[in-house]
Amino acid sequence: MCGIVGIVGTRPVAPLIVDALKRLEYRGYDSAGVATVSDAGLDRRRAEGKLVNLEKRLADSPLDGTIGIGHTRWATHGVPNETNAHPHFSGDVAVVHNGIIENFAELRDELRTDGYDFASQTDTEVVAHLVSRGMAQGLSPVEAAHAAVRRLEGAFAIAIVFAGEADLIVAARNGPPLAIGHGEGEMFLGSDAIALAPFTSAVTYLEDGDWAVIRRNAFSIFDADGNPVQRERRQATTTAYVVDKGNYRHFMEKEIFEQPEVVSHTLAHYLDFSAGRVRKMDAPFDFATIDRLAISACGTAYLAGVVGKYWFERYARLPVDIDIASEFRYREMPLSAKDAAIFISQSGETADTLASLRYCRQAGMKIGAIVNVRESTIARESDGTFPTLAGPEIGVASTKAFACQLSVLASLAVRAGVVRGVIDAQEEQRLVRQLVEAPRYVNAALKTIDQIERVARELSHVRHVLYLGRDTSYPLAVEGALKLKEISYIHAEGYAAGELKHGPIALIDEDMPVIVVAPHDRVFDKTVSNMQEVAARGGKIILITDEKGAEKAGIETLETIVMPNAPELIAPIVLTVPLQLLAYHTAVLKGTDVDQPRNLAKSVTVE
Ligand code: G6P
Repeated sequence: MCGIVGIVGTRPVAPLIVDALKRLEYRGYDSAGVATVSDAGLDRRRAEGKLVNLEKRLADSPLDGTIGIGHTRWATHGVPNETNAHPHFSGDVAVVHNGIIENFAELRDELRTDGYDFASQTDTEVVAHLVSRGMAQGLSPVEAAHAAVRRLEGAFAIAIVFAGEADLIVAARNGPPLAIGHGEGEMFLGSDAIALAPFTSAVTYLEDGDWAVIRRNAFSIFDADGNPVQRERRQATTTAYVVDKGNYRHFMEKEIFEQPEVVSHTLAHYLDFSAGRVRKMDAPFDFATIDRLAISACGTAYLAGVVGKYWFERYARLPVDIDIASEFRYREMPLSAKDAAIFISQSGETADTLASLRYCRQAGMKIGAIVNVRESTIARESDGTFPTLAGPEIGVASTKAFACQLSVLASLAVRAGVVRGVIDAQEEQRLVRQLVEAPRYVNAALKTIDQIERVARELSHVRHVLYLGRDTSYPLAVEGALKLKEISYIHAEGYAAGELKHGPIALIDEDMPVIVVAPHDRVFDKTVSNMQEVAARGGKIILITDEKGAEKAGIETLETIVMPNAPELIAPIVLTVPLQLLAYHTAVLKGTDVDQPRNLAKSVTVE
């Protein structure tokens, strides 16, 4: 999604803004731009595509000025080209914006009637014209910006600079995050603390409805009605190292290989290894007294939630409703204040997940959040958080965050089983011992790389792939398919193995590989029957299983990828690894942009 940077500095800011924008690249974008204010007035450079194009523009034609704003754009209104790239200008006003202005068509018609011409197809340009019109009517820049923001409906984070105002940025937030960074005689603004990390770790997040006046040595925050408000100054946990890929070719590869370590950190937060217990946690609700749990999330986080449903129901006898957040928020399901909800989000900013959280809050439910970014909006609006300790995830396609989400969900399911009286002390110890082993198994899974590369070569030539799995391997199959399509652009579908005969079996032929995720678990024999159905129709099977499964499958496969015999509870965490590696190597062979796949965004702050 779009990224915003603003600096009221003391040095030439254009290169600094580009550096900060680079740290927002991971969010996904398709064009970029910078505008600065200098003695000569407002000026900007914009470019379609990657930041390197913008850097070339700036090298050919540098921008002066110690104050400026920058933007990476993920297109919503209008194609990705230079004209639609931000900042947008109107008179003495330059604006960058993240989000969607829902009433833009109405505002555009009104402004056109007043004689304003639109240079772009964006919704953002209405903001520039609204502010400019306010100033033409005699308002000060700050008054005009506030008046304009009050007219906007929808989700937005905005930063505005003005010709002739070398010490002023006005920012506003209603939805997508925006943080003010505190420097020494300099102030910064960014979509997240990662962008600001080289400049400062002291940040103040704007809350929804807030707008701010930022100057070199001071800032003020106001609520929507213009009343001054105080917002907490925090120390961001993000450090400057995050843009470093180390010896890896891509962030995604690095993040896949970080999994033994981050899973271990995450589990250590929840488990008392020596006592063999799940730690008592400061939970936002009591698992013992709720009748149902609602889990909601998007994308990969949603699929972690599906695995979590199996675990909560199996180990804690706790019924779980699992929903895609964009459906949950509108489908008007009856909610009870007696029940609790858990939202899962790496970024903690996904618009649909946040809206679902607020929907549950209105129903009086207690809310927990499994989040990776501790300062995020979802974390702040929950009654309690269950952190994943994955560290910053930069690759757009989520990998290590998923493994950590699974680690948290498994720990919570065991804890819920204990407090609900389903799991006794002995069983708790047995399950905790299994969880403690997870990093070791994940490490072993990472060693299957040669075989994976062979399969990836096969996949890189096909157009369609089917993934099958049962029980917890069903959401894994869907996640495997999602990873493959996200980064290699090969069409892939994940299906419950038992559903094969209700449709996808019609697709089976010798051209379509079928990847079956089937550890030797309680449903192994059932999945083997489904593989027989595929084999009988000439389908090419790639089996991902464990040692026992490989021994017992008794079926001819194109390739059998053998994982260590992991205990049942942690098998999904382990089996995730070959699915990630397979997608990664296929994408590398196809030469796609692995870390920033086309059209995708890391932090999806619009509906
Ligand atoms: C985007 C990302 C996915 C991620 C999903 C949910 O689609 O590309 O990798 O799973 O958003 O994001 P969240 O930050 O809420 O986990």
